[in-house]
Amino acid sequence: MGGQTSPKVCPMHRVDDISEVDMLDAQMRARPWPFYDWLRADPKRRVYKLPQEDNFYVLHRYEDVRLAFLDAKQFSSKIIPTKDSLFFALMDGDAHRSVRQVLQPIFLSTRLDTLWDTHRVVIEKAVDKFCEQLDADILDDLAIPLPLTILCQIFGLPNNQEDVMRLYEQSLAINKAFFVVGGTGPRRPLNPTFDEKFRIVLSQLCNSIQVLKLLKHLGRSGIQQLWRKIRVDGRKNITKFTMPRPNYAEMPAGILAFEQLCNQIAEHLEANQSPAIQHINDAILLRKISKLDGILAVAFVLFAGHETTVSLISNAVSHLTIHPEIFERLKRRPDLISNFIEEILRIYTPVTRFLRRTTTDVRIEDFTIPKGAVVILMPGAANVDRAFDEQGCTFNFDRKPMRHLSFGQGQHYCLGSNLARRITEETLRHIISKIEYISFQHNEPHRFVTDRDNGLYRMEHCRVKLHKK
Ligand code: HEM
Repeated sequence: MGGQTSPKVCPMHRVDDISEVDMLDAQMRARPWPFYDWLRADPKRRVYKLPQEDNFYVLHRYEDVRLAFLDAKQFSSKIIPTKDSLFFALMDGDAHRSVRQVLQPIFLSTRLDTLWDTHRVVIEKAVDKFCEQLDADILDDLAIPLPLTILCQIFGLPNNQEDVMRLYEQSLAINKAFFVVGGTGPRRPLNPTFDEKFRIVLSQLCNSIQVLKLLKHLGRSGIQQLWRKIRVDGRKNITKFTMPRPNYAEMPAGILAFEQLCNQIAEHLEANQSPAIQHINDAILLRKISKLDGILAVAFVLFAGHETTVSLISNAVSHLTIHPEIFERLKRRPDLISNFIEEILRIYTPVTRFLRRTTTDVRIEDFTIPKGAVVILMPGAANVDRAFDEQGCTFNFDRKPMRHLSFGQGQHYCLGSNLARRITEETLRHIISKIEYISFQHNEPHRFVTDRDNGLYRMEHCRVKLHKK
């Protein structure tokens, strides 16, 4: 990897009190930008070894993060020491490509167009309901239900409010237990305690009906394939292996939710009722992917497309609440909405970090990241690197082109970037046409935070007043 110009610090931030970066530190989670400045301020921190962990390294400069995203050979997405991986996004090479190629056409702009009228109706209804309230919550009443309802429409899954909220609870349970995407899970023990193991086994016995259903849907070979995906590779000594740890206390709920979701998707594949599901079934019939991979691909899209877009929508609406002058401007110039969204993606990067594992010793300038280390790529920090964009942390959507790494780069580039942008644009357009402005409810502090351990950056619950025309 090449050299880079010396980093600058954003004048808005103070970095004097910072002495280390800790992903779980409350201040870093609420306002990460001074920490990004601190990382950039000293060239010795170009490759930053996390002090709380043995073998975790942080890349934060734009050029380093971009090149690591692009270099799948040295920076592998396979971060868990299993023989195979549950989700295609955590695989490399053909195993990753085969599933990606099947999913890709579903999210092409031209395909999205065919269903867009039905999506628009959902968005308009949700916004109307949100705007009708005098007192509403940006997350609960708008951002959380919207993306999941639209993903359910795409896959023809039941999408009334109750079904969508059940799906949301399931995905939350899975996320809390495993949080593999963007998570670090630092300082958790590698192995479950006796009590935690006992609870996991007991919950499996109590939920044996879900296990039997899975067996029925997948058959013996499917279950064997599933086992390979979750079983740790025997050659790896797990106690020595650096890896993001699951949350064993949350596992009984997470495993049950995962089994329920897989069974629901399997039943849906069998019913074969939407064009997207028919497309996946065709790929299974043609043996491009296995039935299990088809089920896991749909499950993954539900997580990957949901939580991330919730953050984008809520960050955009929150910013318009903090800045009524921008709300006013977009009312006069709706053609600027797409630019505004790009700047929200850049500054309030919805997923602040992603993980990779080095497959070899990697040299960056005078630093060496050893083979087998976990590398935390920080698009949140890269997006405000002044060596890449002189605006740094200054919010400015009056320019083109606007670039950022919020959707990644290279082989794993986000499959749903079009969809996320379109849902958000349609939502903002409708809000802006319906109301005069939005303000915070008195006495309600508004606070952004990096959610749980998984790097999602968004508003905590935030109640607002909607001022109608
Ligand atoms: C604002 C919303 C979103 C953001 C910020 C986002 C961000 C990202 C990023 C950074 C990656 C690359 C991960 C990596 O390199 O390890 C990614 C991958 C992915 N995203 Fe998104 N995403 C968003 C919305 C969506 C939506 C709506 C969908 C579904 C339709 C989706 C589906 C996926 C999938 C399937 C992958 C894995 C691609 C692969 O590994 O080949 N995302 N996303």
